[in-house]
Amino acid sequence: MKKIETLEMINIYKSFQGVRANDNINLKVSSGEILGLLGENGAGKTTLMNILYGIYQPDAGEIRVNGHRISIDSPKASIDHGIGMVHQHFMLIQNHTVIENIALGYARAPMLFPQKKMRQSIVSFSEKFNFNIDPDKKVWQLSAGEQQRVEIIKALVNGAGLLILDEPTSVLTPQETRDFFHVLEKMRKDGQMIILISHKLDEIKKICDRVTVLRKGRVVGHACTEQMDKRSLARMMIGREVIFSFSREKMSRKEKVLDVVDVEVDGDKGYPVVNGISFEVYRNEIFGIAGVAGNGQRELVEAITGLRMVTHGRIRINDIDITNQSPRKIHNTGVSHVPEERIRFGIAPNLFLYENAILKQHHQKKFSRRAFLAYGRIKAHTRQLIKDFQVATPSINIQTKNLSGGNIQKLILGREIADKPDLLVASHPTYGLDVGATEYLRNQLLKRRAEGGAVLLVSEDLDEIFELCDRVAVIFQGKFMGILESDDSRIADIGLMMAGTKDLRTGEGADDSF
Ligand SMILES: Nc1ncnc2c1ncn2[C@@H]1O[C@H](COP(=O)(O)OP(=O)(O)OP(=O)(O)O)[C@@H](O)[C@H]1O
Ligand SMILES: [Mg+2]
Repeated sequence: MKKIETLEMINIYKSFQGVRANDNINLKVSSGEILGLLGENGAGKTTLMNILYGIYQPDAGEIRVNGHRISIDSPKASIDHGIGMVHQHFMLIQNHTVIENIALGYARAPMLFPQKKMRQSIVSFSEKFNFNIDPDKKVWQLSAGEQQRVEIIKALVNGAGLLILDEPTSVLTPQETRDFFHVLEKMRKDGQMIILISHKLDEIKKICDRVTVLRKGRVVGHACTEQMDKRSLARMMIGREVIFSFSREKMSRKEKVLDVVDVEVDGDKGYPVVNGISFEVYRNEIFGIAGVAGNGQRELVEAITGLRMVTHGRIRINDIDITNQSPRKIHNTGVSHVPEERIRFGIAPNLFLYENAILKQHHQKKFSRRAFLAYGRIKAHTRQLIKDFQVATPSINIQTKNLSGGNIQKLILGREIADKPDLLVASHPTYGLDVGATEYLRNQLLKRRAEGGAVLLVSEDLDEIFELCDRVAVIFQGKFMGILESDDSRIADIGLMMAGTKDLRTGEGADDSF
């Protein structure tokens, strides 16, 4: 296989049921270059990369490698040309080990599979990039960051000279993102080329050499990242000025909705990861939990929403004890949940959009007529939801998996918020959303608060926390390091508390190593 020096996509067109996902797109990458691919949710980024990776055939247009036209009619052909892709939603098989997953995608597998050689190359890539991956672990045992490293190794083992990364950092912690960028820089030095899709403009600015921006399926510009700032990138992407403006009026909180008392929860590995947490969330309040992923916030949220057993302590909603009740029962008590892994747990991909729009709510009176579902009302509700939350879709009669990643997110967020829950639990609600949708969503959370809802927001994004929350708890190693009011002067030091420093004046830490 000859090394890829340049890759061009020329006049690419692709439509789905009348939707022009790609409308005459041109782009070029060269060896040693990181190209950012930017655009709103539904702009056509994933479609374009799926064409390059042989998952879709373009309606028209061509792909050239080192100046020669090539045909890519399957992922195998793409891999043979030295192209590798890490998808927006991971595609690893959860019950298989790392080595099995990588072997499954191995393009040049001979009759007798070279187990030993495969293991060696996994270990050597793992060492080269400090990935620290155990080839014999099952995928379900790995964190999102680790799974992503497996996907990258999988592409590299196949000899990819061009690596396509579709929103690779949306599931990574800030620390993992930093490590990941070092890896990308190393690859760039090695002469690899990379196409990176991200909605995080800071990241694009930091790591990309150039950007290509799509809007509604068309290229609206190419630019050198050096000459752009966040604001001009955003303007190019959505065609208007984005001014994040939020009016979080002061509001006095009302009745208590959520009451968590001395709760302990075990993690997947069987030992406690939430170690005696207590707090309350009130009506007209947004309560934030800030923390680096992996410090127990996920398990805490799962315990509150009925997805995980509580081993000690009590949880109450509106004075009703819901400790260790079923998710359905908790939902009926007035709790909605926007889960972190929304695509995996928040929708049924093969169901129609209008079916997903009322998932878990179908038994409500307004959606049923005696024993039957009231499809008229369900569809009307879905149309309203789509309009309110600006979900881009040609119709509500399509399978949900055909929506773009960000639009699936918007559908789930809309569904949970529209239910007007007493308590809305939102985990990383703006992951994968473009700047416009992020602004909209944050305003929706404020609206829920103004209407008298209680909101529990879990986020790593400190801007989000500062903009929205009335009180913030910082979680570290399964404990709250403190709960701060939004006007507390220590709020600026939350970043340090997230790393385990408890009292900023004395420097006392959660454990002695700090
Ligand atoms: N298999 C499909 N069937 C029907 N429509 C599709 C299919 N795949 C994509 N689309 C449509 O094509 C458009 C572009 O989607 P695409 O997934 O490429 O967007 P994207 O830029 O990756 O967005 P996001 O940032 O939300 O991931 C969307 O309107 C989407 O609904
Ligand atoms: Mg996408």
